[in-house]
Amino acid sequence: MADVTTKKAGIPAVEAKGARIPLLGLGTWELRGRVCARVVEQALRLGYRHIDTAEMYDNEREVGEGLRGSGVKRDEVFITTKIWPTHFAPREFDRAVHECLARLRLSDVDLLLLHWPSTRLPLAETISVLVKAKRDGLARHIGVSNFSVAQIEEATRLSGVPLVCNQFECNPFVDQSALIKACRQLGMAVVAYSPIARGRVRDNELLSRIGAAHKKSATQVCLRFLVQQHMVVIPRTSKVERLSENAAIFDFSLSETEMASIAALARA
Ligand SMILES: NC(=O)c1ccc[n+]([C@@H]2O[C@H](COP(=O)([O-])OP(=O)(O)OC[C@H]3O[C@@H](n4cnc5c(N)ncnc54)[C@H](OP(=O)(O)O)[C@@H]3O)[C@@H](O)[C@H]2O)c1
Repeated sequence: MADVTTKKAGIPAVEAKGARIPLLGLGTWELRGRVCARVVEQALRLGYRHIDTAEMYDNEREVGEGLRGSGVKRDEVFITTKIWPTHFAPREFDRAVHECLARLRLSDVDLLLLHWPSTRLPLAETISVLVKAKRDGLARHIGVSNFSVAQIEEATRLSGVPLVCNQFECNPFVDQSALIKACRQLGMAVVAYSPIARGRVRDNELLSRIGAAHKKSATQVCLRFLVQQHMVVIPRTSKVERLSENAAIFDFSLSETEMASIAALARA
């Protein structure tokens, strides 16, 4: 695996099946209204090049506003959105994707995900509507979220088009080793959501201790732990000052011993 430590400006990316996904993105769940637009705009000004939204977050309009307000060119930013399972029937899906694009005021997204597997519809049907959205030029890449090992295997078998990622909860407090291994075997990128355990990592003693040795916060150590394993992280913050903290994770490395001790947290 390539090194993900860089002193140069710019955020490294992970490559998966033709997609280049910036290793750091901004999560936007629960960011609404002016706060959302402002945080997205500031994040892009600070160098973030990846924004994660979803039709369910009810903030795509503000994400689009933030993008335009930042002055950063559209083709320099990687935008992900997700479709909720109640919209997986073919006509509904097509309409939902067009509505996402209208709210974002974009002609396509970089990555379109199935937000959760459907408990009602057969996977074959859902995958084919997702593939159609890509063929129709509405998404440059497609993928899934919250899929289990068996589900990513089946989805990959059913899709004639590469599924570039699985987005799921991943942080030092949850053991996702089996799912991570399966994604790697299938060549899918891992996109880690709730990467800082909804803010809880800040108070962790081990992460704080390791951070003190590197002059970094526990949150930065946590994010570094994930990106050093080539996982994409999408931490959310509503506070502009935390955007820089969460992005300063590419100028230091954790030792093998530190990585192993953090990995042991999930088993504790
Ligand atoms: N696919 C899915 O089903 C799914 C599910 C959940 C999440 N996601 C995506 O993943 C993103 C991230 O996950 P998440 O929002 O659940 O949680 P998260 O990013 O792990 O944590 C967000 C929380 O951490 C706090 N925080 C941020 N930076 C901090 C820092 N430097 N120090 C201390 N606290 C900090 C934030 O508070 P402040 O706002 O006060 O900074 C917020 O309360 C979401 O926003 C969404 O885009 C996807």
